[in-house]
Amino acid sequence: MIEGLKVSKELDSLMQRGKSFLNCEYPLICGAMTWVSEPNLISAVVKAGGFASIAAGNSPLDLLQKQIETVSATGKKNFAVNLITIAPSYQSHLKLVTEMKMPYIIFAGSLPKEKEVQMAKESGAKVLCFASTMALAKRMIKFGADALIMEGSEAGGHIGHVSTMVLLQEILFNFGDQVPVFTAGGIGTGRMFAHMLLMGAAGVQMGTRFVMTEECLAHKNFKDSFARSEARDAIATSQFDTKLPVVSVRALKNEGVDEFNKLQLKLIKDIDAGLTTREVAQHDLETFWIGSLRKAVVDGNVQSGSLMAGQSVGLVKNVVPVKEMVRDIITEADKELIAVKQKLSC
Ligand SMILES: Cc1cc2nc3c(=O)[nH]c(=O)nc-3n(C[C@H](O)[C@H](O)[C@H](O)COP(=O)(O)O)c2cc1C
Repeated sequence: MIEGLKVSKELDSLMQRGKSFLNCEYPLICGAMTWVSEPNLISAVVKAGGFASIAAGNSPLDLLQKQIETVSATGKKNFAVNLITIAPSYQSHLKLVTEMKMPYIIFAGSLPKEKEVQMAKESGAKVLCFASTMALAKRMIKFGADALIMEGSEAGGHIGHVSTMVLLQEILFNFGDQVPVFTAGGIGTGRMFAHMLLMGAAGVQMGTRFVMTEECLAHKNFKDSFARSEARDAIATSQFDTKLPVVSVRALKNEGVDEFNKLQLKLIKDIDAGLTTREVAQHDLETFWIGSLRKAVVDGNVQSGSLMAGQSVGLVKNVVPVKEMVRDIITEADKELIAVKQKLSC
């Protein structure tokens, strides 16, 4: 919670559903970001009254457990563990988080099985599932998801193919009454936060903007690259051949993206020559991303490391404390609501 921050009754009312679902003051989620969202950033977000996610990624079990314990020590319950269903350690992560009785579990990456969603719910957690298509949203609600994170292709990191603009109409407008829908992908301002709530979103998830906070421990070079970039610099990778299906990744263009493309071409040739299988090649590509993201975020190698970033990167230029970021978003959202009211009254 931000001391002294006044929220109008209109904004408070629009935030109510998300606040009560997420057990927080402001329904602003700091999305899970491998190597980026570690306990320092997460603790700052939960203390500021937002909601944050620990990125399980492919983390070793003991490290994930330690991260959960560190964030739990804040005494706050407004955080989740974000599980990647295609990560090799996924099953052991799921077992750990259900045993540790997490307040919230997020399924990302691909489709969780219905029994996995049920297992998470039976542990007492509220379950949020990613949806990057309308079909996925429908399926996740059928499986028992308590809420959806609708993420459009403008987002940073691994992405689907449909833009936030279209998903708002397909997912938010169709399912927003059934379950709380949190919107993500290309959202970087308080004004847009207000419009998402007006459209029916329960809240918003951001990733790229949270990188530009003081409490985010990403290397200075990583943040400097963000500060220098415009929306069009955050490009999505392509799939070159259907025999090697790859999930697109949005990142700032650099040698790291070229290296990924070269690796993809080599692996396609290796599949043709019988030197590898599709599954092994897909695993190699995912391992590439984890390693190269670490190179950029932790080591500061922004030439060949991966600079995963969303198109909203063009909207953020300065590094500020988390509290200031949350305060700015809420204040801007409130101003926008006043402007909307004025427009409607004439
Ligand atoms: C550097 C970076 C790493 C990310 N890593 C993950 C991840 O490990 N798991 C995940 O579910 N989403 C990941 N994301 C996506 C974010 O959680 C969030 O949904 C996304 O950034 C929202 O869109 P935005 O970038 O426009 O704010 C990542 C995003 C960024 C920028």
